[in-house]
Amino acid sequence: MNKRIVIEGGKQLFGEVSISGAKNAVLKLMAAALLIEDVCLIHNVPDLSDVETMVSLINCLGAKTKYSKLNQTIEIDARDINNCVADYAYVSKMRASFDVLGALLSRLGEAKVALPGGCAIGERRVDLHIKGLQLLGADVAIENGYVLANGNKLKGVDISLSMPSVGATENIMLASIFAEGVTRIQNAAQEPEIVDLANFLNMAGADITGAGTSEITINGVQRGSLKGIQYSTIPASIEAASYMCAVCAVGGEIIGDDIIPSHLTFFLNKMQEIGVKIEPITPYSLKVKKDKRLKAIDLITQPYPGFHTDMQAPVMSVLALADGTSIITESLFENRFMQVPELRRMGADIQQENSKAIIKGVEYLTGAEVKASDLRAGAAMVVAALAANGTSTISDIHHIDRGYEKLEEKFSNLGANIKRVENFENISDNKTIESKVLL
Ligand code: UD1
Repeated sequence: MNKRIVIEGGKQLFGEVSISGAKNAVLKLMAAALLIEDVCLIHNVPDLSDVETMVSLINCLGAKTKYSKLNQTIEIDARDINNCVADYAYVSKMRASFDVLGALLSRLGEAKVALPGGCAIGERRVDLHIKGLQLLGADVAIENGYVLANGNKLKGVDISLSMPSVGATENIMLASIFAEGVTRIQNAAQEPEIVDLANFLNMAGADITGAGTSEITINGVQRGSLKGIQYSTIPASIEAASYMCAVCAVGGEIIGDDIIPSHLTFFLNKMQEIGVKIEPITPYSLKVKKDKRLKAIDLITQPYPGFHTDMQAPVMSVLALADGTSIITESLFENRFMQVPELRRMGADIQQENSKAIIKGVEYLTGAEVKASDLRAGAAMVVAALAANGTSTISDIHHIDRGYEKLEEKFSNLGANIKRVENFENISDNKTIESKVLL
């Protein structure tokens, strides 16, 4: 765990960056492939540690996978799924693996899935997942840290979520694919990842309508009727936003390729409000230019299509340098300001009052030793370090590796001075740094 990302800040960014496939989409497609008694080929798969964890998990359930990092594909043969137990060793590492609960229940009529892990950004309950499965007719219990679900004959029903939970919407969709009759999910999450999951399943033969709106309807189809398909994952809008934040913080002009701008509407509007120039180049690429000091703004995170909570931390690094006082209100997760003490170490002036962060923009940040406390807080550290005067070292970068493919390579190509160092020893100990640079 002695790896660090080392950044010499202050170099403006110029050039083109290609955005990878979306982690939070592909992991759910991999869970959905468990419903298909056939072979599926998923394209545009990012090279991320979370994808490797999901590969290990579905292999353990009986799938046969061929993951080609070179071709960015995963072939999943789920004909012989035979194990309904998703072990703690996998599920504790990431929240998305909890989606195998609905998939295994659908496919095998039973599931035993460890309660999930993922970033420690809040309580992250699973009560809505469980209530949804119970309404479909499953018996669900929690024992020894596992959710046990049983139900061979699930029945379609109307399910109204008390909040539009992404994971609960997905688990209910997956559980109801073979349920008898019609399932309606009201107050469903509307994220692009939900639409991607529905498109994937529909292409395989499921009957889902309304994904992307607040009401999703699933007409149950025959178990065993889904067919193998080829499918390409949507691009990662959070990764795209993170690169745009970097140019907003440090300055320069970049073109982001392989972006779906409509997935980023709220974010792009906010970036324009603070004074960044954004111009479409093609339907799937955007030019982002920052040539003057940005203005402070207020924003509140909300379920999609509102301002995405995952973009909040990197945007905070931008606002730390803006002219004036900004207020960010985090309305989804209780513990999503873990970047605040780290940004303060770099000279940011941020006060936290419960769910609000009050950010008084400073003229400059200074390089420091900081840590990536979670995935998106890690992105915030990278953005701040790129803009800071001097050298920053970021520790706990395994969080960053969960969600950012080839981060150092992509930023180096834009002109940043960034490298990954293995066997890092603290410079302040006055020891020689013996390091192996991994670019
Ligand atoms: C997903 C994303 C995460 C993103 C979040 C919101 C994945 C792997 N992660 O997380 O990056 O930040 O959506 O866009 O896709 N809740 C309950 N009970 C439940 C479920 C959720 O109270 O049973 C609450 C949560 O505590 C949270 C809110 O609902 O306050 C939203 O959570 P949810 O949409 O479920 O997020 P995840 O699916 O965990």
